[in-house]
Amino acid sequence: VEKTFVMVKPDGVQRGLIGEVLRRFEQKGLKVVAAKLMNVPKSLAEQHYAEHRERPFFGELVSFITSSPVFAMVLEGESAISVARTLMGKTNPAESAPGTIRGDFGLTIGMNIVHGSDSPESAAREIGLWFSEGTVAYDKAVDVWLA
Ligand code: GTP
Ligand code: MG
Repeated sequence: VEKTFVMVKPDGVQRGLIGEVLRRFEQKGLKVVAAKLMNVPKSLAEQHYAEHRERPFFGELVSFITSSPVFAMVLEGESAISVARTLMGKTNPAESAPGTIRGDFGLTIGMNIVHGSDSPESAAREIGLWFSEGTVAYDKAVDVWLA
């Protein structure tokens, strides 16, 4: 069982899509083990996007993610990292398939609604960064029907 870090970005929160995005992950069978609405401190934004530090759009990325609250969460399930990425669709909403979150709701690459960890290493790093308080372990009766 894997955990992944997912967040509804400021555009998704402003557009009222927190519930819609969360619904899709829940319906797929992923379990919410942590969640919070928060303003993102600049230092956290810079650490989160550290891999893009040298990219020309780094400044834009940091100012966008700190511009308005995000809804951050940790989701758990079989292959949670790749499953979440599949539901999200391609990075550029102009190329993401209908039926995916970005394909259905996004229009530009900068405002693409949602973030999800891209590897087990990223997931561990991002969960530690965003949820240093830890996650919640619990059983759901439905787990037996998903295994
Ligand atoms: P995340 O889940 O948000 O990390 O998206 P990703 O893994 O699909 O893409 P990547 O990590 O390569 O890029 C991180 C984020 O930077 C993307 O989600 C985009 O919002 C943004 N981004 C990527 N390329 C560009 C770009 O060329 N211009 C702008 N403005 N933003 C970009
Ligand atoms: Mg990424």
